[in-house]
Amino acid sequence: MNNLKLIIKYFKYRITANSKHDIHSPFVFQLLTKVINNKSVLSVFKEVENLRSLLLKDKTEIRIEDFGAGSLKNKTKIKTVAKIARNAAKQPKYAQLLYRLVKHFQPVNLLELGTSLGISTAYMSKASSTNKITTIEGSENIANIAIDNFNRLNISNIQVITGNFDVQLPVLLEHTSTFDFVFFDGNHRKQPTLSYFEACLQHKHNDSIFVFDDIHWSLEMEEVWELIKQSPEVTVTIDLFFIGLVFFRKESTKEHFTIRF
Ligand SMILES: C[S@@+](CC[C@H](N)C(=O)[O-])C[C@H]1O[C@@H](n2cnc3c(N)ncnc32)[C@H](O)[C@@H]1O
Repeated sequence: MNNLKLIIKYFKYRITANSKHDIHSPFVFQLLTKVINNKSVLSVFKEVENLRSLLLKDKTEIRIEDFGAGSLKNKTKIKTVAKIARNAAKQPKYAQLLYRLVKHFQPVNLLELGTSLGISTAYMSKASSTNKITTIEGSENIANIAIDNFNRLNISNIQVITGNFDVQLPVLLEHTSTFDFVFFDGNHRKQPTLSYFEACLQHKHNDSIFVFDDIHWSLEMEEVWELIKQSPEVTVTIDLFFIGLVFFRKESTKEHFTIRF
């Protein structure tokens, strides 16, 4: 999808999305008022944002393998850390929403597909000292910087796995019974995203939460989002335009919300 189409879609979303007054589900209403719309600025945010500022100034060049959408082959490229921080890391608004979701639901076993420099991972880690986060990153040089970043932030509850999701995810799932929280943030193409979703579905429970990044980024991602909504195991979904939340709670009736964020 080109940028202009995305901007038009975003404005449509801003106009048509629901606000809290339109929500009748008690679960979603509470989530909206307590978590999604809670704009408190916390000191831990400053810690991670200070690190982001340093990364944004870091002109070190690194060689990376491009695994993500947009590349037909796994091309190798040279990029500065600053450019990766600018283009790949979740913006504060969304990273802080991840923090609040983790703080609110207190998932213990978390998985992230797509570590990059570790900004979103750091936010999720800072939300709970008892959680255990496994994060997978294809590019070894990027993963090494993420590991340095976790050390700089005194974070020790993160396990970084380096390698292609296609290879590492099945191995990890073989040794994991369930994940409480999964953040899908890499390889934004239809077939791979669907297959990661389907693989993780086998390892969810009633209260697991799946978060998908960039659900409107391309037509392929919009198709995936529609298929996820239709999945019989999914009950509630919340479309926040740049991010989509998925719940499996059997006590909720199947309903799809688009909420202004
Ligand atoms: C958007 S970035 C992740 C950003 C990070 N979650 C954050 O917000 O700070 C996506 C990352 O996923 C990695 N990636 C994409 N496709 C992959 C694949 N098939 N296997 C492993 N890593 C992959 C890319 O190398 C990239 O670093």
